[in-house]
Amino acid sequence: MTTSSSPFRPYAPSSNSRTGLEIHLASRPSGLPTPDDFRLAEVPVPDPAPGQVLVRNLYMSLDPGMVLLTAEHPGVPAPRYELGEVLYGDAVGEVVASAEPSLAEGDLVAHRLGWREYAVAGAEAFRKVDRTAYPNPSLHFGFGLVAYAGLLRVAELKPGDTVFVSSAAGAIGGLAGQIARLMGAARVIGSAGSAEKVRYLTERLGFDAAFDHHEGPVLDRLREAAPDGIDVYFDNVGGEQLRAAIEVMNPHGRIAVCGALARQSTGRPDEGPGDLLTVVGKRLTLRGFTVRDHMDLAAEFGELFRDRLREGSLVYDETVIDGLRNAPRALIDLVRGAYTGKTVVRLGG
Ligand SMILES: NC(=O)c1ccc[n+]([C@@H]2O[C@H](COP(=O)([O-])OP(=O)(O)OC[C@H]3O[C@@H](n4cnc5c(N)ncnc54)[C@H](OP(=O)(O)O)[C@@H]3O)[C@@H](O)[C@H]2O)c1
Repeated sequence: MTTSSSPFRPYAPSSNSRTGLEIHLASRPSGLPTPDDFRLAEVPVPDPAPGQVLVRNLYMSLDPGMVLLTAEHPGVPAPRYELGEVLYGDAVGEVVASAEPSLAEGDLVAHRLGWREYAVAGAEAFRKVDRTAYPNPSLHFGFGLVAYAGLLRVAELKPGDTVFVSSAAGAIGGLAGQIARLMGAARVIGSAGSAEKVRYLTERLGFDAAFDHHEGPVLDRLREAAPDGIDVYFDNVGGEQLRAAIEVMNPHGRIAVCGALARQSTGRPDEGPGDLLTVVGKRLTLRGFTVRDHMDLAAEFGELFRDRLREGSLVYDETVIDGLRNAPRALIDLVRGAYTGKTVVRLGG
């Protein structure tokens, strides 16, 4: 919906000659998008109108959920990408002109107007962030909070639990495993998509055990890694890994369903959790969640995240893609498992 007070309102006419690049949705894919479903557009960048701010984006986040937003019915609680229009997503940028007293030139801001080099919108669309909080601006993206809320509030992690995390070499999974350990988990197990990623989990992130989900059956690999069963499963994937986790869960185990990468990476529906009698017999809890319902944990998590990064007890790795024009291809590569850690796009040189 576009109203005159919306931060997403269309650009006003420009008095300058500045232009910027944006990525638009060119066609709606029937399954996984291809680079041809996106279009690079050069658009005029207006001066900010009263109440507005002009921001030059420095980094934008790539999230597998963006693939879902290209579909007619995304199946997630977020507006889909519209045909012929610029996409959106988390970004961090610098104010280059402001017609609103609460934000000044040079301020660093986090916002949702990614997939474009310049964002012009009402000041309410931007959140000023502390330049000194993190070594890298991309750390202001909210993926860490997803891991924290999913483990502590949704899965009700307890000291002594054995925790299994899927897509553990990715952005959220890598932090989920490390946070579980910091919060007292007795054993942390991860799955990932290559031998190199498996080594990354045990050697760099400190997982106790890890396996390659391609070297299935996943059920056998998980039983080997968790001979005494698992108490918490942080599920980024669904499909075979969810079914295996249900089999290996201990009684009263808790599953936090964070994502559905088995579906997101193929565009095909998931086969689901399998025989629910096992869920009944073991009194398991399986809870889907969206981080937006847990924003009250943001300050608490932010403090922990900053402190632990500073003291080196949390590891954060990112893959940086250079240039907006490479972002559509990188999004598709991301869901296919090409990258490790958090994947971000660096904009504007
Ligand atoms: N609930 C929420 O509020 C919330 C918020 C943000 C994001 N999410 C969701 O959380 C999940 C993780 O996001 P992320 O940013 O951390 O992504 P990510 O794990 O960094 O990246 C995607 C990874 O998916 C894995 N993958 C792809 N197809 C797979 C398959 N068939 N089976 C197993 N793994 C597969 C690949 O890893 P391998 O190479 O290891 O296979 C790839 O690296 C996504 O589903 C995302 O949409 C949820």
